[in-house]
Amino acid sequence: MNHSRCLYPGSFDPVTLGHMDIIRRAAGIFDTVVVGVLHNPEKQGCFPVEKRLDMLRRACGGLSNVEIISYGGLLAQLTKEMDISVVVRGVRGVGDLESETVMARINRQLNPALETLFLPASPETGEISASMVRQLASFGADLSPYVPPQVLPDILAAFQHK
Ligand code: COA
Repeated sequence: MNHSRCLYPGSFDPVTLGHMDIIRRAAGIFDTVVVGVLHNPEKQGCFPVEKRLDMLRRACGGLSNVEIISYGGLLAQLTKEMDISVVVRGVRGVGDLESETVMARINRQLNPALETLFLPASPETGEISASMVRQLASFGADLSPYVPPQVLPDILAAFQHK
């Protein structure tokens, strides 16, 4: 197992400054961070997966040790296929910690070699969520405090047509 590489999975629908906080910090710990756009069956997607990948690529453009991929199956299976033994997840508070702990345990049952590392969200990003960004976008609010500048026009354009 390769410990110098981690997987940061999520829906990234769209990528926010909260996600970027975790990606940057993980990139400072691991040699390589693989950012994986995975499918959360409990969420109805807003942006097509290709668009989410494109926005992530541009937002992470300055980070040389970050790779962006998508995967349609189980997270545990992806880590086996990629020989990755560490998954990174951001936690904003006790609510996240509760659900993330369940997810980490299930993933470890599916792949006993897998560890999940929790990073607490930075104070300035702890209130951000992708659904909040989508809601603000639908009302035409200023998104600059919440999303990377590289993807701001894409999000505004998507909601202008809704
Ligand atoms: N700061 C601010 N916001 C953050 C954040 C941070 N550090 N970390 C997460 N968020 C927000 C996101 O914006 C998102 O907001 P939303 O709920 O309004 O959309 C929410 O917290 C969590 O989203 P995200 O981190 O993108 O993950 P997710 O919960 O949507 O995705 C998967 C979970 C995709 C990793 C999970 O469903 C999965 O592994 N799917 C593959 C299938 C599988 O293996 N299932 C079994 C899992 S046990």
